[in-house]
Amino acid sequence: MKKTRAMELLGIELPIVQAPMAGATTPALVGAVCAAGGLGSFGAAATAPERIRAVIHAVRQRTTGSFNMNLFVPDWEPVPDDPARVAAMQAILAPLHAELEAGEVPAPGALFGPFDKQLEVLMEEQVPVVSFHFGAPPGAVAVLKRGGAVVMSSATTVAEAVALEEAGVDIIIAQGAEAGGHRGTFAGDWQQSLIGTLALVPQIVDAVSTPVIAAGGIMDGRGVAAVMALGAGAAQLGTAYLACPENSISPAYRAAVLTANAERSTVTKVFSGKPARGLRNRYLDTLSQHEDTLLPFPSQYSIYRRLRARATELEDSDFLPMWAGQGVGLAKEEAAGALTNRLAADAQAVLDKLRG
Ligand SMILES: Cc1cc2nc3c(=O)[nH]c(=O)nc-3n(C[C@H](O)[C@H](O)[C@H](O)COP(=O)(O)O)c2cc1C
Repeated sequence: MKKTRAMELLGIELPIVQAPMAGATTPALVGAVCAAGGLGSFGAAATAPERIRAVIHAVRQRTTGSFNMNLFVPDWEPVPDDPARVAAMQAILAPLHAELEAGEVPAPGALFGPFDKQLEVLMEEQVPVVSFHFGAPPGAVAVLKRGGAVVMSSATTVAEAVALEEAGVDIIIAQGAEAGGHRGTFAGDWQQSLIGTLALVPQIVDAVSTPVIAAGGIMDGRGVAAVMALGAGAAQLGTAYLACPENSISPAYRAAVLTANAERSTVTKVFSGKPARGLRNRYLDTLSQHEDTLLPFPSQYSIYRRLRARATELEDSDFLPMWAGQGVGLAKEEAAGALTNRLAADAQAVLDKLRG
């Protein structure tokens, strides 16, 4: 396949980006994708700064090439939580804690960041590619670029893509509504920003001169070929890599990914307080009855941390956050390197076939 501008900027041989997935990506996953010629990405949003440094060193032991480290831009208000709302949410969670013998419902605490310190480590370690979710602070973009990094961020609307271009990012990730995980929406209403990949990618491609990578619902060579036809310079896949043995998700979560159909994937705020796409389960259905009492991100995620840890311990998929996109029905267990190669080879075969 001819190299696109995005591939040249990223220094990759295949038009495949394994999505950063906080809590799911590992140096082994990132290294395997990089070794195959794609771009491996580590979701470092919830990783402490010094641990991020250790992850970077572990990735560098597995690849001498390009790789991506990803952070959440703190677009949330650092307001202390209203004690009455916290107490109301604790009361809702208490019976679930009792059922799973998870102990007391904790008070919300810090979960992500601190962003400035995380960023400092990425700069000190001269990470080749940095991607952001929830916007792109122009100051950070400029410093990273001066240090030689390629900077990317997610857009869920044309307006966000234009804002990211103005902020100076090198590559825009067009995240369609099908995408698993948190919506990258940072400007405007999140429900109005649920635009499908097929509609979003060409509109962003036409609106900006910055290279675009497509994300959301891409699971195989057909999907990769489709987004390349829409003008994307590469495809970013998250859900497809959840079926790989190199990630760090629990066996219960991986089993759910391998058996779920598209109808089970839904966008919800109940796990974290921010809209994110995941698999419906008992926790989601229960908390959906209390939408008005949900705490803002990241407090809702944090107050749920003990129940989540206990559900992981018990391998209880009824209470786990299981981010996954609408393509989940196509997930197949496969090693990450083999998946990366197959995606690129099958995309090429599809394009050749269409060319006749
Ligand atoms: C389990 C999971 C965790 C994710 N975590 C992050 C993250 O930490 N940072 C980020 O930029 N995107 C994250 N995403 C979103 C991906 O970058 C990407 O937009 C999405 O996976 C693409 O859609 P797909 O899942 O249909 O392939 C996550 C997605 C999943 C499935």
